[in-house]
Amino acid sequence: MKIFIDTADIEEIRDAAAMGVIDGVTTNPSLVAKTGRPFKDVLVDICEVVDGPISAEVIATDYEGIVNEARKLSAMHENIVVKVPLIAEGLKAVRTLSDEGIRVNVTLCFSATQGLLAAKAGATYISPFVGRVDDISGSGMELVEQLVTVYQNYGLSTQVLVASVRHPVHVVQASLIGADVATIPHKVIHQLLKHPLTDIGLERFLADAKKIPTG
Ligand code: G3P
Repeated sequence: MKIFIDTADIEEIRDAAAMGVIDGVTTNPSLVAKTGRPFKDVLVDICEVVDGPISAEVIATDYEGIVNEARKLSAMHENIVVKVPLIAEGLKAVRTLSDEGIRVNVTLCFSATQGLLAAKAGATYISPFVGRVDDISGSGMELVEQLVTVYQNYGLSTQVLVASVRHPVHVVQASLIGADVATIPHKVIHQLLKHPLTDIGLERFLADAKKIPTG
């Protein structure tokens, strides 16, 4: 499973990239707003740090607007993947952009039927928001299972990108299901590597190392 980092914070991206564990980046308007920086500046910085797919979301909600914005974002860097919301105008734009060879991440997916339509329209990625489904007492992972099955049943090439990941169990479940990608917040990436026995073991090794006579 590929791991993307779900943030627009360049320091968080640098930290995860230095560990060598990330294959790409996803952003959204909320994450960019948190940085307090202009969208384009943020994207330029990210493209310098990560050589992999970088999702940048459009703000327009009408077909013309989405297509225009998407073309501009895509022209900024070869690694930019345009993020388009899962609405009717969005799907029309996905078809046009996909025919032009522009990669699209269709975002805000909450059902298998939405995912099926996004794949038919030519989406490169579909982003089911698992945490937000769990938030309303649904099962985000059931949605991921359905999307993976539907795409496998019909040989659809759209990749399932598990988004709105909130904790390590989401990551384990996504990888057991066979999702193509999980996009993970910086904090959760660090939670993935943490284990108390590793810390205790290291503490003991370092304490014992002090007892070794110097030669
Ligand atoms: O990848 C989408 C993500 O940023 C949304 O996460 O936690 O706001 O549902 P959350």
